[in-house]
Amino acid sequence: MTLRHPTVAEIDLTAFRQNLRQIRRRVGPHRALLAVVKANAYGHGIIPIAQAARTENIRGFGIAFVQEGIQLRQAGITLPILVMAGFLPEETEGLLEYDLTPVVSHPDQLESLRHYVGEASRPVRIHLKIDTGMGRLGLREEEVAAFIRLAQRVKGIEIEGLMSHFADDDLADHPAAEAQLDHFERVRRAIEAMGVKIPWSHMANTAAIVGLERAWFDMVRPGIMLYGYLPSQPSETTPSVKPVMTLKTRIIHLKRVPSGTAVSYGRTFTTRRESLIAVLPIGYADGYSRAWSNRGQVLIGGRRAPVIGRVCMDMILVDVTELPAVRLGDEAVLIGSQGSQTLWADELARQLGTIPYEILCAVSQRVPRLYREGDAPS
Ligand SMILES: Cc1ncc(COP(=O)(O)O)c(C=O)c1O
Repeated sequence: MTLRHPTVAEIDLTAFRQNLRQIRRRVGPHRALLAVVKANAYGHGIIPIAQAARTENIRGFGIAFVQEGIQLRQAGITLPILVMAGFLPEETEGLLEYDLTPVVSHPDQLESLRHYVGEASRPVRIHLKIDTGMGRLGLREEEVAAFIRLAQRVKGIEIEGLMSHFADDDLADHPAAEAQLDHFERVRRAIEAMGVKIPWSHMANTAAIVGLERAWFDMVRPGIMLYGYLPSQPSETTPSVKPVMTLKTRIIHLKRVPSGTAVSYGRTFTTRRESLIAVLPIGYADGYSRAWSNRGQVLIGGRRAPVIGRVCMDMILVDVTELPAVRLGDEAVLIGSQGSQTLWADELARQLGTIPYEILCAVSQRVPRLYREGDAPS
């Protein structure tokens, strides 16, 4: 008998594919799409998400770390994989062995690659990152010419891409984003003036796909939009995307308590009436932040019910006094919809003073992912 843990993250692969097609429709048929699947596909499960994406005419995948690329290769993914957050010298061999494409931001990384290019049977393709205002990874403008001359001297290295990254996640500050773009284009022109042709230029994350067409270049790198969220409030012209993850659990214990009963660690909540309390088997170890203590809401019976007391490692308590029909085993939705009520990650993020990215990525390994095609389990 297979028993399923009551807490699950349901991943709607149909919604994921629809989101991908919305992006395709927006940027046109000839622009390449690099699906960003780092951080376990923003919590959605890197392998099933990559498998769902690979039949959708994408160019490849963007990940942060070498280890994530190895995971994709070991699962049989053969499309190009761009390692976007750098690599340490000791990771170089693995990077090349698994045919991953590194983003390079520093001449020392060229040195690391130089040791192995001779052994590689194919040219080693790299993407050069320019720091246009993020102040994180990337070469500064004045370092670019020397870097390119150095790269030209390493036989077997091909600069396949030129990229940069926006510092504004919702591009609300358009002048700063435009200045980053001007910066990037200046570097591009300077490289061209050196007689160097780099096939791919790319800079657009979700925010730029939605709001800054000038940044689309040859390829776009959508992340959060694939998973159904936009960094700013949608307008009439923004593509409609659908959240892919629903986080739900079931009531594992119900108890009626008198007024004046203190609940959970620290006794931070005391009932002020006779109350019906539901215990849900989800806690901060599952990624349900402790910051929801006495603040969160969950959907039960199509209504919102408040989290009372502290969020524990494995459990939360919910006041369901207003929902007398609840039964042991009833479903509770923490991210998602139930009846006419919704509680999506963007709303949760606003309440918690964070971004939907963090809410989704936080859903921990302990929570089983259940993959569905639309309403049917896959
Ligand atoms: C280099 C790079 N490109 C693209 C993305 C995707 O960004 P978003 O999820 O906002 O679309 C990220 C994510 O942070 C990134 O680090």
